[in-house]
Amino acid sequence: MEKLNVWIDSDCGIDDAIAIITACGLKELNIVGASAVVGNVEVDKTYRNVRNVLSLIHREDIPVYKGAAKPIIKPYFSASYFHGSNGLGGAEIPESKAKHEEKNAYDALYEKARELGGNLYVAALGPLSNLAITIADHPDIVNYIRAIAIMGGAVEGGNVTPCAEFNIFCDPHAAEVVFKSGIEVIMCGLDVTMQMKLGQSDIDEIYAYGNKVGDLLYTSTITTKQFYRAENERMIYLHDCCPLFYLAHPELFKAVKCGIYVETEGEITLGKTVTDVYSDHKWEDRHCKAVMKIDHDRFIDMVKDIYRSYEE
Ligand code: RIB
Ligand code: CA
Repeated sequence: MEKLNVWIDSDCGIDDAIAIITACGLKELNIVGASAVVGNVEVDKTYRNVRNVLSLIHREDIPVYKGAAKPIIKPYFSASYFHGSNGLGGAEIPESKAKHEEKNAYDALYEKARELGGNLYVAALGPLSNLAITIADHPDIVNYIRAIAIMGGAVEGGNVTPCAEFNIFCDPHAAEVVFKSGIEVIMCGLDVTMQMKLGQSDIDEIYAYGNKVGDLLYTSTITTKQFYRAENERMIYLHDCCPLFYLAHPELFKAVKCGIYVETEGEITLGKTVTDVYSDHKWEDRHCKAVMKIDHDRFIDMVKDIYRSYEE
């Protein structure tokens, strides 16, 4: 089966790093490029983290481009309280020696989409600022992207406010541009990503593989696990793995067709992804999908197999 060409856009924090490492281990995907966006932490740090994570797994062949330093309209809201000031929970990994790319993320993504004749998926793991700017700078890109699989939003609930998820809340205006662009958006929202729990016992098992990627996962999650305790063990949510695993293994998931729009004006509802999944009133334009369920055990087994496969 032909691999899917995928561009990863990331605000490389703790779960982004896990997503990038596992994505590069999914044989169904061909990662053709990456871009960094402001989000969990500032873009200089997310850019450094994407580069250094790819260098850790010897994938400096994947070019990395720097994107937006702030949301397109609203002030920046950081998640360093969760991901630490360096974005990786304080974990330090060697500096990449890959050359720095001159192009900005927007031109680089557009040129890659044109070069591939539209045979390109985007996995957006952070706020959608880069995607919105790319669409504004190059409107015809909508003809050259097959679909955008995002980690973001939620049919129900929120994690930054009771009704907004961080990536959408951080740049709701950019999200609205993307959802209204006409490109199919596959929304991996909290509905499914909060099923993607990695418990302390799983983390300990991965750490015991004795390689650098397992060490990064263990070290970067030491502090964050204080935020979550499910059943009776500490755990983390592998939010950002979802778009990439959905593209590679849609059979693990249940997704529903729907219309999705973003609240950009509300005081208490700012950043809510309003969907018609549970509504009798259906939007006229329903070109999106909301991913709702995952086969958790098969997913975790795949994550462990990929981490185990890294030699050093
Ligand atoms: O709400 C979870 C999302 O916000 C994840 O992408 C995480 O990395 C943060 O960016
Ligand atoms: Ca992220």
